Amino acid sequence: MAPNCPEEVDVFTVPHSRMKELVQKYLDMIISTNFSDVFHLTTLLKNLLNTFHEFKAHEQIENKYIMKKLKSKLKALSIQNTAVCNCHKDNKLTDILSLLEDGYQCTKKSDAERINYGIKLRKALEDFTQDFIPHMEEEEEVFQPLLMKYFTFEELRELKAQVLEQHFEK
Ligand code: FEO
Repeated sequence: MAPNCPEEVDVFTVPHSRMKELVQKYLDMIISTNFSDVFHLTTLLKNLLNTFHEFKAHEQIENKYIMKKLKSKLKALSIQNTAVCNCHKDNKLTDILSLLEDGYQCTKKSDAERINYGIKLRKALEDFTQDFIPHMEEEEEVFQPLLMKYFTFEELRELKAQVLEQHFEK
């Protein structure tokens, strides 16, 4: 959570609690999956696809309701901030989604190939997690204070309501 941020205008902490819960779930799941078992692998892939689609939706909501508005506000004030412009520019989510699609091909392959896929998937998820947790911290600790600096309390209250509605009320 951003330091000194009133709960009413904190746009990141609630969605990030959900994202962190999902991270913990897949870290637990990946350790307990027996990749030589097709049913285990298929169940894992289905859960991971749901999780990473939820991450993608989270990113799209942030882009549309937070980053775009923050960028226009900074632009109107002639303030340059490349961190805001680049924070979702990488393809990490797309890469994992594509790796998960590859996993379905492995259900038709040998035990050894499934085990190798499991090693690759575990490494990719560990790498993703190592970036995703600090990314969320950056949003909370750097972008939230920027929002508080350039938006009014009422604007942020409204923005938080939109962000929560998009995440949880569909
Ligand atoms: Fe809140 Fe960009 O993840």
